[in-house]
Formats: sequence, structure tokens, C-alpha cells
Amino acid sequence: MPAAPARLVVLVSGAGTNLQALLDACQDPAYGAQVVAVGADRDGVEGLARAERAGVPTFVLRVADFATREEWDRALAARVADHDPDLVVLAGFMKLVGPAYLSVLGGRTVNTHPALSPSFPGMQGPRDALDYGVKVTGATLFVVDAGVDTGAIVAQTVVPVEDDDTVATLHERIKVAERAMLVTTVGRMAREGFRLEGRRVRLGR
Ligand code: GRF
Repeated sequence: MPAAPARLVVLVSGAGTNLQALLDACQDPAYGAQVVAVGADRDGVEGLARAERAGVPTFVLRVADFATREEWDRALAARVADHDPDLVVLAGFMKLVGPAYLSVLGGRTVNTHPALSPSFPGMQGPRDALDYGVKVTGATLFVVDAGVDTGAIVAQTVVPVEDDDTVATLHERIKVAERAMLVTTVGRMAREGFRLEGRRVRLGR
């Protein structure tokens, strides 16, 4: 990571509250990072509006606008790489990236997942945790690999499951902890760098 602020590209699909937490953190020069672009796989989401309000350039690449998923994946890699990111943060980005993307940006792309990996991978982490009956769950920040929420773990945060939780109340509690974890950990990655030793992620140079 450079001494200049680390360049972050953030990809979103929805509300963008994790993005907002990063945008807010980046206001402080001591945080050591700036969001240089925000991308989405769909139009009209609040995450894009948050970027626009912050004066950050945005782009949208919809799978449906490409002949194949592979073409979309290549286009996504190219568009993200155009912004020369030190780190790409998938923050509620509801698409799996593919081999073309990973060949360009693998090793510098992290994703946040609302469950404690390796439990409950996939789209329904909070629902699956609630249905299973676990008493604690949380969120996981990991380095994206070719699997579904299988990458090397950078950080995790734990929240309790309450007896009267619904999927919505549980996910909201997770998101509060998730945003704090994301801001803390991305800041450390930006300022200190990180490396992979097998599946173990080490912060620092
Ligand atoms: C987060 O909990 C993320 O982990 C999950 O979807 C949520 C996105 O929230 N995949 P937001 O769009 O950042 O508010």
C-alpha cells in the first residue's frame, strides 16, 4: 500500500450503508484511504446516490446488458481496474465475480458477508443463522476467491441472536457491527498493508 491515501473502489447492489460508513471514514485524512469510484450491477440503488452525493464517480454494469456472464465479468474487471485501486471492497454487492475478474483483481478484493464464516455462506446468511438456531452470529470480511464466501478471513465480528429476533432485526444488528468492522479493518489494510500466509491474513508489512 502506498503512503498516499489508498485508492478504494467499492461495489454495491443496494442501500449502501457499508459504503456510507467508508465514505464517512475517508473524510479524515488520517484514515489513509479515499473512495475513488463506486460501481453497481443495477441502476437506481441508494448506494449509487450516496456516492453521487459524496462527489465520487459511479458506474453501472448490468449482467443483462452483456451477451454472457463472462463478458460482464471481463467488463467489470476492466472498469474497476481503470480506477487503479489498491483495494476493492464488495459492500453488499450481490454478484459473484468470476475468473476474469479474479485474474486481474484477485488478492486485492475483499467482501463483507453477514455471517460467521465458514457457517452460512450465500445470499441468506442472517436467515440461515436464525433458522439453524445459533446463539451468536456476525459478519466476516474476507479476501475474495473463486468460491461462495470461502476466501481467507481478514476480520470477524460477533453479535448475539435474541429470542425474539426476526431476519430483519437480526440483520440490522449484524449490519451495525459489520460497518464498524469494515471501517476499522479496511483502514488498517490501507495504512498497514496485508499479506496472505496460506489461509491466514496478516495485517502489516
Ligand atoms: C450487508 O449486510 C452485506 O454483508 C450483505 O448485504 C448487506 C448490505 O448492506 N451482503 P448495505 O447495502 O451496505 O447497507
